[in-house]
Amino acid sequence: MSEILKIIQNRHSSRYSFDRKHQPSRQDLVQILEAARWAPTAHNMQNFEIVIVDDKKRLEDLGNIKSKISEEFLRENYQQLSFTEEELLQKKVGILGTMFPQSWRTPNDWGKVARESEPSSLDQTIRGSPVLLIVTYDARKRAPASEGDILGFISLGCIMENMWLMAQALGIGFQIMSVFGAESAEQDVKKIHAIPEYMRIAYAIRLGYPVSEPPKFLRVRRDIEGFVHNNRFGNRFL
Ligand SMILES: Cc1cc2nc3c(=O)[nH]c(=O)nc-3n(C[C@H](O)[C@H](O)[C@H](O)COP(=O)(O)O)c2cc1C
Repeated sequence: MSEILKIIQNRHSSRYSFDRKHQPSRQDLVQILEAARWAPTAHNMQNFEIVIVDDKKRLEDLGNIKSKISEEFLRENYQQLSFTEEELLQKKVGILGTMFPQSWRTPNDWGKVARESEPSSLDQTIRGSPVLLIVTYDARKRAPASEGDILGFISLGCIMENMWLMAQALGIGFQIMSVFGAESAEQDVKKIHAIPEYMRIAYAIRLGYPVSEPPKFLRVRRDIEGFVHNNRFGNRFL
């Protein structure tokens, strides 16, 4: 197998605690940023700015931000869940329900959870990471004639993947945290880092090394024949 394909297949979401005291080196961070720098973007607009957070006080302030879960999230999250490993292996898309609290997996509880549960702090998401990257974009711009700036958002995804593959190649744990860009947290995050009003947060990334042997998560993908069509939609390629 080619080296690049090995890195692509081994890249994964590091959903476990990181060692606060083991920070990725500056040299490695620069390599990750270099990978972002060379990502393709629509019209080569490079509409992104990255805030690196490695200051202990700021990490603590971010950790104290409270974010509330919405019923909409709970409902749509549920639609992606499998409830056994067998089911997930069969479906080949989505994630395992056991990654989430029981109440998130119980449709009758969603309203109550969204209304009554205590907002959780971002600390629970950051989980000891000694360095975060906050990826922002200038919401006043868009890729030419791109409705809803979908091409701009695809570009932010290319930046994400380039950095993720670089981190994987360097042996650095990497997890996306969408919650930083969610309505319930974005303004507070922006305040801590003096991010201008016109910038929006696309996502944040936690980087680090596991505190202990990382758990193994079941990761599934569709087979190539499950998503490829030859010349005519529905015609098999493989
Ligand atoms: C746009 C985007 C947003 C994501 N947001 C989150 C997130 O908030 N939390 C998280 O743990 N993973 C997040 N992920 C990671 C996906 O859930 C993950 O890539 C997918 O389940 C496949 O698992 P793998 O990364 O281990 O291959 C996000 C991925 C993308 C591309």
